[in-house]
Amino acid sequence: MGRGTLITFEGIEGAGKSSQLEFLAKRLRAAGRNVLAIREPGGTELGEGIRRLLKGKETPLCGEAELLLFLASRAQLVRERIRPALADGTIVLCDRYSDSTLAYQWGARGLPIELVKELDRFAAAACVPDRTILLDLPPEEGFRRIRAARGGPLDRFEEEPLAFFQKVRAAYLQIVQENPHRIVTIDGSQSPKAVELAVAAAVRELLF
Ligand code: TYD
Repeated sequence: MGRGTLITFEGIEGAGKSSQLEFLAKRLRAAGRNVLAIREPGGTELGEGIRRLLKGKETPLCGEAELLLFLASRAQLVRERIRPALADGTIVLCDRYSDSTLAYQWGARGLPIELVKELDRFAAAACVPDRTILLDLPPEEGFRRIRAARGGPLDRFEEEPLAFFQKVRAAYLQIVQENPHRIVTIDGSQSPKAVELAVAAAVRELLF
């Protein structure tokens, strides 16, 4: 990895990842830092096409195909955008990354953990986050937020039952146990301002 820093945001739907990523990007840019803000799946032409397939409900997808699509998007994103940005000294903020694949495709879909980890290592190459922010939220609250905020129809994942998100959250908490130095867990049920300050504190020592 180059001189840059890779920071990823994780959590269930409605945890506030996207807003908090934007707040942090703004804060770092105001401090004069170069920031690349991207999301998964997506961030490249291929990734945005894959994103439409994955989130839309028109195309039937088995769990195995779903996993490989997420990883195809990641492989392209790492090589096309993340690695060059890191080599350039940029701070890369990524909305979801490898921990999402473990939490959703292993934790919730039940695919074999060692296989998911191995395929993710192949896709992400040696691009491991320097810090991961997990915004933790009870699934009931995430569910409520998504349904209150969404005017239109729900996507493939948002439509899953509460039990699915309970499995995703449990998987995230297990991943934290295994990576206590990389992952900082923040209570996503606090006010957005309180979460923003906790996120800033979580990256301060890494960046300044
Ligand atoms: P998105 O709208 O980005 O979700 P959110 O706004 O909650 O971040 O949609 C991405 C969906 O894809 C989300 O439900 C989580 C899921 N996902 C996986 O199942 N595996 C993965 O590897 C990734 C990156 C996302």
